[in-house]
Amino acid sequence: MGFNVAIDGPAGAGKSTIAKAVARELNLIYVDTGAMYRAVALYMLREGVDLADGEKVAGKCPEAAVTIRYEDGVQVVFLNGENVNAFLRTEEVGEAASVISPIPQVRKNMVALQKSLAAESDCIMDGRDIGTCVLPDARLKIYLTASSDVRARRRYDELTAKGESCDLDKIKADIEDRDYRDMHREESPLRKADDAIVVDTSDMTAEEVIAAVTGLCRSAR
Ligand code: DC
Repeated sequence: MGFNVAIDGPAGAGKSTIAKAVARELNLIYVDTGAMYRAVALYMLREGVDLADGEKVAGKCPEAAVTIRYEDGVQVVFLNGENVNAFLRTEEVGEAASVISPIPQVRKNMVALQKSLAAESDCIMDGRDIGTCVLPDARLKIYLTASSDVRARRRYDELTAKGESCDLDKIKADIEDRDYRDMHREESPLRKADDAIVVDTSDMTAEEVIAAVTGLCRSAR
């Protein structure tokens, strides 16, 4: 196996920002696994599937073919051949991804795709179950976290900067709901791998976290 880094942690901890920057610094491929679950969720939303009906969602899974390509180092997610990157990063799709991701039929193909990407290239992969399930032999595992207050504030600032109006308390409540769902599901719950290093970013700037994680990667390589 090549050099693989697993980053797990709750929604809004900064995983993708950090992983993307570290990947650039160390010439690794950044694999965003949340985007894959989001693509399946987008399919279900477009089809008007009742997300609470797990059997319906499971039955529809074979219709949603998710593939990944890298264009100039950027991960592009294709849903049945359509580039859907522009539709994945909304609260609605993130929420839907959290609701459908516990379904085993949803996870099965995603995990296989993730394992094959890691086998092909040196990568830094982020998600919820990377250190525990997808890449249990990753050279380095990081559990990136921050308080829900800090995570809500970051999400709020991000959305406000994009010109979207939003409510801080509602964002915090949504984040806590999402944490609960991701951590308490039966199938591959979010949990720190025993051998993961915890990085709590509550009182760190993005630059500080990037420097810390890059350092950990250099020592592990
Ligand atoms: O990281 P994100 O916000 O893009 O992830 C969206 C949802 O997808 C998240 O709430 C749970 C699910 N997910 C998962 O179950 N396993 C992963 N490896 C990544 C994401």
